Amino acid sequence: MKELSRFLYGGDYNPEQWPESTWAKDIEVFEKADINSASINIFSWALLEPEENKYDFSKLDKIVEELSEHNFEIVMATSTAAMPAWMFKKYPDLARVDYQGRRHKFGQRHNFCPSSSNYQRLAKNLVEKIAKRYHDNSHIAVWHVNNEYGGNCYCEKCQEEFRKWLKNRYKTLDNLNKAWNNNVWSHTIYNWDEIVVPNELGDAWGEEGTKTIVAGLSIDYLRFQSEKLQNLFKMEKSIIKKYDPDASVTTNFHSLPNKMIDYQKWAKDQDIISYDSYPAYNAPKYLPAFLYDLMRSLKHQPFMLMESTPSQVNWQAYSPLKRPSEMEATEFQAVAHGANTVQFFQLKQAIGGSEKYHGAVISHSQKTDTRAFREVADLGKKLKKVGPKILPTNNHAQVALLFDWSNFWSYDFVDGISQDFNYMSEVLDYYRQFYERNIPVDVIGVDDDFSQYNLVAAPVLYMVKSGLNEKINNYVNHGGKFITTFMSGMVNESDNIYIGGYPGALKDVTGIWVEESDAVVPGQEITADFDGNELECGLICDLIHPQSARVLAKYSSEFYADTPAVTVNDYGHGKAWYIGSKFKHDSLTKIMDKILEECKVSGLANSNLEITCREDQDDKKYYFILNMSNEIKELPNKFLNYQDLITEKFPNKKVRPWQVLILNK
Ligand code: GLA
Ligand code: ZN
Repeated sequence: MKELSRFLYGGDYNPEQWPESTWAKDIEVFEKADINSASINIFSWALLEPEENKYDFSKLDKIVEELSEHNFEIVMATSTAAMPAWMFKKYPDLARVDYQGRRHKFGQRHNFCPSSSNYQRLAKNLVEKIAKRYHDNSHIAVWHVNNEYGGNCYCEKCQEEFRKWLKNRYKTLDNLNKAWNNNVWSHTIYNWDEIVVPNELGDAWGEEGTKTIVAGLSIDYLRFQSEKLQNLFKMEKSIIKKYDPDASVTTNFHSLPNKMIDYQKWAKDQDIISYDSYPAYNAPKYLPAFLYDLMRSLKHQPFMLMESTPSQVNWQAYSPLKRPSEMEATEFQAVAHGANTVQFFQLKQAIGGSEKYHGAVISHSQKTDTRAFREVADLGKKLKKVGPKILPTNNHAQVALLFDWSNFWSYDFVDGISQDFNYMSEVLDYYRQFYERNIPVDVIGVDDDFSQYNLVAAPVLYMVKSGLNEKINNYVNHGGKFITTFMSGMVNESDNIYIGGYPGALKDVTGIWVEESDAVVPGQEITADFDGNELECGLICDLIHPQSARVLAKYSSEFYADTPAVTVNDYGHGKAWYIGSKFKHDSLTKIMDKILEECKVSGLANSNLEITCREDQDDKKYYFILNMSNEIKELPNKFLNYQDLITEKFPNKKVRPWQVLILNK
């Protein structure tokens, strides 16, 4: 696979929206900002194929030629994410049927049915043409398949394919009925063709992905849809590889993260992970950091920051401008966590369509004497300087945080005992603990290797598929440290309860059993006592019976006062902590201080700056010091004798708002 030959700086360029006469000037402006890359051909299907089997590559040829002449790294997309109008008219079946059961018409994008043979054929034909035509252009750095896959289809064809998929998974209806526990509410299936897709016309209700009668069915459907879309990706990729076996092929992942698609399952098919990042103005800074760590951990390799905004987006409720220097810090934050590209949406601001108010490198003013452009150009200069040093480095972590798509799906489907369950927010509570201590973290899946980590944290590991409890037991038995919480170990991969007391599959390793769980209602305050400190908690309070575990904290309110809230169990050569409630941040900090001390895990520095480290093959370390705030902060003394790669000077004690340092010796 072709590696990135330099650090890419650029983004989505949509020259087909502009007269050809303007392209040369655009490129000149990009070069002024040290932009060396452009992602093209993302949404051009209607221009490339004005009618079936009639292709017109004249515009794309010219764009490719101009960018190649200027030695740009081209990120070549396949244009299959937005279908032309004629296609919907000719083949209505290629449009998705939504959660409400409605077949879509022409409009929007990302709305194809993954089972439609017409969509598959048309996409295949287009990609064949594109790959054949451009595969030997050495300026193509990466192939960008489709765009932001996602969205479920509930059409008849998908239903038919789903039945086949289930037959393959369960072999017999008896197995399927058992897996879905179908004797509840008379759901027993006697014939494969009785199976109905779980949308609002079937077993689901409420917002998509939140409410269902048979979670086993709904989760299987999500697994199936994710796999169907993945097959489309693989189909396009295999065509590109046929023409260029060395090509590097990706598709851009997105959202917080995307609930429709199991990125961990997709990762093995990506040559390089790419990610679109648009944190809201009021999102905590640890949220993008978590997502970058997740993206890097998908392949344990650097990733592409495929999209981000140079100034503001248009589609969030409020999109304030990034403050002076904030853009640089937000882009470097991705690099600090493993990005080997900085790419924007968009390079040139559109004059029409719903995204015309989305920020861009070339704005509507078309002037370069603007704050946003100066900042883009300034960042370009810096990346040009530091890029070659950063490109061959990677991040390393001794701590892993589990994030698992089946859990993401199943935890949010839980009906009861509190409506406030949210997988992301529980996982983020723990990520924040590591983030604030500057402890490097890999955000891994349940199939990753645990043995390389000192500590594995698995908050709300609700669904434990078969084999996973043995894997955890084995890891702890061999000296691993493990943290889990309330609502863990509850169900198998089909969402059926492990009987014998919660946390079912994790009872042995935690050395406890939970008899009942209380839902903490709004306004209610539950306290716990931990080494003489009063802790506050909420959401859920587990009523715990320690077996072999020792009690670390006890509730100090409610009828369960004086019973355990936090425990630790010695298991083989390792230890497993069980945290029976959602502790408020400051309270959890106290618990984690103690756990981390016992695990001998410490951060890169004790500081309210964000600090990460990337290392090259020779163990040379680059410390990224990020002031992700509007206030001046202090650099820890231990870094004062390092040099900043950006300025080539020793750093000051005072770190300016949004300042970024890359320190090395
Ligand atoms: C997504 C898409 C882009 C564009 C941006 C706007 O990430 O991939 O085409 O719509 O959002 O933020
Ligand atoms: Zn469909």
